[in-house]
Amino acid sequence: MSHLDPVVTGDTGLDVEAIRAQFPILHQEINGKPLVYLDNGATAQKPAVVIDAVSHCYRSYYANIHRGVHDLSQRSTTAFEGVRGTVQRFLNAPSQEEVIFTRGTTEGINLVANSFVRPNLSAGDEILVTGMEHHSNIVPWQLLCEATGAKLVVVPFSDAGEIDLGDVTARINARTKLVSVIHVSNALGTINPVAEIARLAHERDVPVLLDGAQSAPHMPVDVQSLGCDFYVFSGHKTYGPSGVGVLWGRYALLESMPPWHGGGDMIKTVSFEGTEFAEPPQRFEAGTPNIAGVIGLGVALDWLMGLGLDRIAAHEADLLAYAHEQVGAMDGVRIIGNARHKAGALSFVMNEAHPHDIGTILDNDGIAIRSGHHCAQPVMQRYGIPATARASFGVYNTRAEVDRLVASIDKVKRLFA
Ligand code: ALA
Repeated sequence: MSHLDPVVTGDTGLDVEAIRAQFPILHQEINGKPLVYLDNGATAQKPAVVIDAVSHCYRSYYANIHRGVHDLSQRSTTAFEGVRGTVQRFLNAPSQEEVIFTRGTTEGINLVANSFVRPNLSAGDEILVTGMEHHSNIVPWQLLCEATGAKLVVVPFSDAGEIDLGDVTARINARTKLVSVIHVSNALGTINPVAEIARLAHERDVPVLLDGAQSAPHMPVDVQSLGCDFYVFSGHKTYGPSGVGVLWGRYALLESMPPWHGGGDMIKTVSFEGTEFAEPPQRFEAGTPNIAGVIGLGVALDWLMGLGLDRIAAHEADLLAYAHEQVGAMDGVRIIGNARHKAGALSFVMNEAHPHDIGTILDNDGIAIRSGHHCAQPVMQRYGIPATARASFGVYNTRAEVDRLVASIDKVKRLFA
């Protein structure tokens, strides 16, 4: 049995075959074999409703938003602005005015870094992250630290890939300006105890940012019960278009923040004597956004909510446990990331084959996984490995696909024996 907790088995209430039928891209052969797409951690495929919504926007009512009295502009504005309410429901956010559209998770973190943290950051101040962050939750802070003399403090994690809350508590102090944590590790699959981390940080009045890139597609997210101050995620991993994402932030904090990017659509008035900025969220949305992309994101989130994030979580937990059980039992294969609470991803290394060899052989069998450092090089350094092979699951994956994955890993073993 897999050690994963909780292990969900049996009927999750999702008709996965009907879901698969909605994804045109899945129905093709790669290298003469039916495609098995297990690279959802990198990006998810798009259901027809999302593709059609983007196409419909461009075909029938596309125009710039907030700028025209003409019919197309009004319709585009209404569709675009309506997505704030969809995101509000998706995150159970108190207000849709707290929803800022970005290019993705990376831009959301950089926005918080430059607009919220930087204005109040001095030499000797600290930003707290964990050792399992994606580069997008490391490099923005390093840039700030270099510019200001602040310090990036790192919470370590265990061999299993788990964070000890005592290590978090021990590193929060009067100089800590922000705790910024990955909700679900893209490299290890660990679901971090972010609600507890937020509680610990708030006991010392330290705000908390959650990187939700790998949690938003896989589980219900309630920013109010998580207790965070900022939550960021990407459209392309939530079955929506690429190039769009969301930063959610508490309104009181957003109101206190200066803009990061200046330009059109984020102002009340502009003269050469000075500029008065718009209220949030417009204050943070300079320039023409990805209008059709945001509209597609709204459709994707509605689609996810229609399926039920709790049912998606149960289905994927079943797949992950099933894969863990089989891959974990294979001689010469080592799973990297054995936390009890995991979602989405199964990373592994093999005694003889380099992860790139594994990826190539699996591709030959029609199976798409990611091989590499997963933009989390400190995680690789922690384990003393250059890379892992990573299978990452989505709502359309099946146990039969896990069987194909396992058979192909077995083939790698035999080839390298
Ligand atoms: N961050 C994405 C991944 O984990 C691209 O693959």
